[in-house]
Amino acid sequence: MSTMVGSVELPNPVMTASGTAGNGTELAAHVDLSSLGAVVVKSLHAEPWDGNPAPRVHATPSGMINSVGLQGPGVAAWLEGDLPALEATGARVVVSIWGRTVDEFAAAAALLADAPDSVVAVEVNASCPNLEDRRSLFAHSTTATTEVVDASRAARRPLWAKLSPNTPALPEVAAAAAAAGAEAVTVANTVLGMVIDTEARRPLLGAGRGGLSGPAIRPVAVRAVYDTHEANPDLPIIGVGGITSGDDAVQFLLAGASAVQIGTATFADPAAPAQVLADLGRWCDHHGVARVADLVGGAHG
Ligand SMILES: Cc1cc2nc3c(=O)[nH]c(=O)nc-3n(C[C@H](O)[C@H](O)[C@H](O)COP(=O)(O)O)c2cc1C
Repeated sequence: MSTMVGSVELPNPVMTASGTAGNGTELAAHVDLSSLGAVVVKSLHAEPWDGNPAPRVHATPSGMINSVGLQGPGVAAWLEGDLPALEATGARVVVSIWGRTVDEFAAAAALLADAPDSVVAVEVNASCPNLEDRRSLFAHSTTATTEVVDASRAARRPLWAKLSPNTPALPEVAAAAAAAGAEAVTVANTVLGMVIDTEARRPLLGAGRGGLSGPAIRPVAVRAVYDTHEANPDLPIIGVGGITSGDDAVQFLLAGASAVQIGTATFADPAAPAQVLADLGRWCDHHGVARVADLVGGAHG
């Protein structure tokens, strides 16, 4: 079940998705965190961040929409308050970082430079709003993506760039991330959406717009991974979006992902990442697949 994501070897390809598994050991009562490929923690800013007004989450057909707004304790408090217990579980830890400006990414990354070796990679959440370009996400621009990945080198770890499915330029943005030093790209973040409260006649979420996730977006995410792999066949990809079963994970591997992340499924079943991993193992046994890595990119002719 082992897989390589750039220079990072993982014992298996199933991880948690950022923002859906807490800051540390929240899922430990349900899942042996060391049994997963890695635990990706919620995106951290250099400073504590309050997030968006409520309501922040809402169920939608086959998924959910959220506008949590990247609430978090900040990197320094996380290193002190959350990482030790997470490290004690034996998990491989991936820290996701975000910022509103390139300088804020650099600041968050610099705070991780001396993090312990249990932090095996940093996921650069480029699919968050760019304060200097209000209508856009960093990951909608090759230039802005280049800048945030480059700024994140200060973390001195393998970098994975988390990209947005909301731009037709995704394959070019992935190439830009790789050229700037990302060893892998995580494809993808949520699909931009909105729900209107018909009684109030206003957007339902506190922040108005939100991000759609869960099985509703799985075909979008599979297509995003396929496009990214087709254009960048040598670039490792971590696939994420609506995975609830081993079969779903196999779709992403065949589309070109070397690993996958489980997000929204965890809200229905906190053991979902472990269930998907077990299910993936059964799928491989049943289909005579000896090495999960043999599936990667298999859907491309
Ligand atoms: C409540 C919630 C919070 C999220 N927070 C983050 C976050 O902090 N950073 C990030 O990169 N992605 C965040 N995501 C996106 C997920 O990591 C994932 O990319 C997306 O939800 C698609 O996968 P899924 O359908 O398996 O949930 C969040 C998703 C949800 C549902």
